[in-house]
Order: sequence, then structure tokens, then C-alpha cells
Amino acid sequence: MILVTGGAGYIGSHMVINLLEKGYDVVVFDNLSTGHKEIVDSISSLKEKGKIKKFIKGDLKNKKDIGEVFKNYKIDAVVNFAAFSQVGESVFEPLKYWENNFIGTYNLLCAMKQYGVDKIVFSSTAATYGEPVYSPIDENHPQKPINCYGNTKLALEFLMDDFDKAYDIKSVRLRYFNVAGADSKIRTGEWHDVETHLIPNILKSLKNNQQTFKVFGNDYETKDGTCIRDYIDINDLINAHLLALDYLMKGGKTDYFNLGTNEGSSVMDVLKTAEKVTGKKVNFNILPRREGDPVKLIAKNKKAKEILGWEPEKTLQESIKTAWEWEQKL
Ligand code: UFG
Repeated sequence: MILVTGGAGYIGSHMVINLLEKGYDVVVFDNLSTGHKEIVDSISSLKEKGKIKKFIKGDLKNKKDIGEVFKNYKIDAVVNFAAFSQVGESVFEPLKYWENNFIGTYNLLCAMKQYGVDKIVFSSTAATYGEPVYSPIDENHPQKPINCYGNTKLALEFLMDDFDKAYDIKSVRLRYFNVAGADSKIRTGEWHDVETHLIPNILKSLKNNQQTFKVFGNDYETKDGTCIRDYIDINDLINAHLLALDYLMKGGKTDYFNLGTNEGSSVMDVLKTAEKVTGKKVNFNILPRREGDPVKLIAKNKKAKEILGWEPEKTLQESIKTAWEWEQKL
């Protein structure tokens, strides 16, 4: 049985569907602060090989909530998505991020130790690298985050190293670049009550013609002045998690991998691709730079290919297409 924390959220809900398809039984744990119970309910009604054994509305900040899960279910491995992930917000609300992300996962690891669960796949981030010293960024690139979100995730990577050395808890840390798109059958997708991410914001402005899309800064040192990111499709990202789980189940050692495509797109590239996919014109304004944004993040993904056998397949255009279908369903 697999415990998915944050399983009612964007990435977690995709993972739950894919685990069920593979025949795993799953316990979903989520405090519903940003996740949606409706998504878990609709996933529960799917006829897949595996089942959602239980949905638990609980909070990782509360040791008792997470301890109960391990007491009541025989958990073989944990996939941890439960976290706040807005880079800009984290700069202004560090307490919220240290409490939720750091203390939450610290409590989870303590409960794993207490109940003898020794495998975890953890959502880390490209934000742990900070401003790139070279590009594309490989896993040995210095980790010097420039925002609080990245700091909390990096601290958790250190914590997991210590828990491995002392308690033999094995972790795979997947350092996501920019996740994009929706489930290929549009059963779930990105659904944040306050949306801050680039692709859904562009699509929302296209859905609702009144809304003008805001470009945060066009004075960066890039080809068109806007920030460059490496957009990785959610379906490819989830495949990496399944491979990581398999790797741990087969006795793999603690390790960390970039999940990206080796290619960068600027904010304007994404905007133009969205126009192509939807056949609509984006109304946009240029605003000042957003606090905490590095100029360029592009992954080198060779290590995940070599060790996990993972290779991304989807293009940015394909990701925007599923994101658009999901946006219309929302
Ligand atoms: N952007 C805009 N307008 C918007 C939203 C975003 O111009 O309305 C710009 C941002 O300034 C940035 C780029 O689009 O330059 C991407 O921004 P996102 O908010 O979509 O994503 P981030 O790169 O800030 O962060 C995301 C995840 C993090 C993760 C990071 C890793 O939210 O959790 O990717 O690269 F750490």
C-alpha cells in the first residue's frame, strides 16, 4: 500500500490515478488547504486495478494525524507531495512555508521512522539551485536557493540524507522544473483557487476575455527579455515517480534527479504556443519583475535517464493542449 500525501492536489492526484492503474492500493492524505476533495471522489469512482483504500483529511503539521495513518495501514512506501509551492508568496510569508513544508515533512519522516517505513519519493524542486552558474543545470550544480520555497525544500533534502545515514530511510528526491499540462484523459488537472502559474494564467485570460494576462518582467537578459523555464509535462513527471518507486522497492539507494526536458521556453514562447493551440489572441501587460524569480532554469536530465530509465516524451504544445481542455472542464 502506498501513502500519497497531498493526493488531492494537482500533481498528487495524477500520481494517485497512475498508481491505481498500475494496481497499487493507495491511502490519500491531504489537509485540503489547496487540494480538492471532489477530485479524490471522482478518482475513487474509477474502475482501476488498485483502489483508494481511504481518504484521510489530515495535516502533516499535526504529528497525531500522520502517526494514526501508519498505525492503521500497512504502508510500504510514501510519495510526498503535500507542500505549498508558490515561489513569490514564499518570499513574503516564510513562516507559512517553513511550518507547512519543513515541519510537515519532518513530522512525516519521524512517523516513518517510528513505524518502520523506509522508502519515500519526495517532490523537490529546481528552486533549490537558485540562479544558475551554468546551464543546463545538472544534479551537481551548487544549491543556493534565492527564495524561501527553495530553502525549505533544500533543508528537507539535507534532513533526508541524515535520516538515511542514521535510520536507513531511503529517499528519491525528484527536482521538478516547471510542471505543465493535465491528465491525458482529462480526469484531473491544475486547479488552484488562487492561480499564480504561467500556463493556467494565460489560459484563464483566454477563457475569460475580460482578464488581461500579466507578464512579470521583460528586462531580463534573455532573447526576448522574459524569464526562461523548462516545462515538463505532468504525465512524463508522473512516470518518473513510478520509476522512482520501483527503484526504491527494488532496494535502490538514496538519490536525487532532475525532472525536466533539457529545453527552455521564455514566457513569450509559452504565450505564443498557447495562442497557436487555442487559436486565440492573448491580451497582455508588462509588469515589473516578480520577487524571487531566477532568470533561467533549464534541466540536464541525463541522470534520470541513466539510473531510472526515464525519458520525457511530451512537447510544450501537447502540455498546453491538455491544460486547455482541463481549463474548459473546470
Ligand atoms: N509568470 C508571468 N505571469 C504569470 C505567472 C508567471 O509572467 O501570471 C512568469 C513568472 O514570473 C516566471 C514564469 O512565468 O518567470 C514561470 O512562473 P510560474 O509561477 O509558472 O513558475 P515558477 O518558475 O515561479 O515556479 C514553478 C513552481 C515551483 C518550482 C519552480 C521550478 O511553482 O514550485 O517552477 O522551476 F519550484
